[in-house]
Amino acid sequence: MTPLLVANWKMHGDKDFVARFARAWRAPPGVDVVICPSWGYLDCAVSAFAGRGVRFGVQTTASEPSGAFTGENAAEMARDLGAAFAVVGHSERRQMFGETDAVVAKKFRAAGRAGLTPILCVGENRTERLAGNAEQVVRGQLDAVARAAGPDALRDAVIAYEPVWAIGTGETATPAQAQSMHAAIRGALPNGGRAARVLYGGSVKAANAARIFAEPDVDGALVGGASLDANEFAAICLAAMASPSATGA
Ligand code: 13P
Repeated sequence: MTPLLVANWKMHGDKDFVARFARAWRAPPGVDVVICPSWGYLDCAVSAFAGRGVRFGVQTTASEPSGAFTGENAAEMARDLGAAFAVVGHSERRQMFGETDAVVAKKFRAAGRAGLTPILCVGENRTERLAGNAEQVVRGQLDAVARAAGPDALRDAVIAYEPVWAIGTGETATPAQAQSMHAAIRGALPNGGRAARVLYGGSVKAANAARIFAEPDVDGALVGGASLDANEFAAICLAAMASPSATGA
């Protein structure tokens, strides 16, 4: 399976950053790359990476297609601006912006309605992991979307497993922890998740990427901080290209 690398630039960057990144970053062949700039720079990023085979995503969308929702941006607008993906249910949205499972499910459906591929983020916090409930929490997050959007909506989904305790902390899940959760996620999807891609996110860096990508159920990564550095992100893409699942080893 072709690895999928998603850069989540979060609320970082400006026009100069986008231009410099596009000049400095080189994608290796054999990987799919999606860049998710902040909404305001989507148009600028689409122009800066023209002809480079990169696709684009937004970090969140509204759940409605249009209307009097001051400050919101619809999935249809993302599509119009050149996006093909939408991150849905990132833990920062869940924690800081009060997005419940029900809201996440609505946004997942909104992305699909607009023709965007949702990248559904799931993951447990540290307390939940220490209590031994990590799988149950993740399962609940998947079930909430399956109930609202229909189980088939997850058949060829992109799911990002992002343990909250590993995001921006420098602490990654061990490859074994990631593999075990990825296998559980895949097993919970229709058709054994054979058509789905399950990404890992949480402090992925060039230095640890190869070990994580060596696991059979890790199909790529959702990268935050390290995706802001063109060389670092290029090295992560290279590690994915060389992974056993990409090379068929
Ligand atoms: P970091 O890679 O900075 O830990 O962020 C992960 C993340 O939240 C990607 O969506």
